[in-house]
Amino acid sequence: MKNNIILIGFMGCGKTSTGIRLSYALRRTLIDTDKWIEKKQKMSISELFASKGEACFRKMETDCIRELIRTEDNRIIATGGGLPLREENARLLAELGSIYYLRITPEIVYERLKYDTTRPLLQGEDPKGKIRALLEQRAPLYEACADHVIDVGEKNFGEIIDEICRLQ
Ligand code: S3P
Repeated sequence: MKNNIILIGFMGCGKTSTGIRLSYALRRTLIDTDKWIEKKQKMSISELFASKGEACFRKMETDCIRELIRTEDNRIIATGGGLPLREENARLLAELGSIYYLRITPEIVYERLKYDTTRPLLQGEDPKGKIRALLEQRAPLYEACADHVIDVGEKNFGEIIDEICRLQ
């Protein structure tokens, strides 16, 4: 198994923000799978969803993980919120390193993302209901995929990073 640190969890749980700080703390490069895909496709996630559809984006996530397994080690990897949900991806992530689930409540996600326009799955009517339903459906899958669960709700970044470092 490889020695990457992989951050998974729902949109708005802080995977990227935690990843940036962790990469400074541990002096390791951060790879963000959404940014990796955007760079490769030369399109934003919203544009990808609109022009190619979600199913195609999910396939790109699998391709991304396969490529990272081939090429990367000792990195911090922040994943898109839906990436670990495909069974194949969950299996591939386990090959890539230790998986940390940043667990958050739907209320906090809503407060953080209520004005966000970059997450196609949360646009339109009733974002609060969408967050609640999606999180309820996904939580068991995140938990099954994770080596470690970190409740991030009330914690600051320093505490979250200390916890990840202790668990390593
Ligand atoms: C998604 C989460 C997003 C992005 C895409 C789909 C999801 O990433 O990959 O909008 O299905 O949860 P973040 O978790 O970084 O927002």
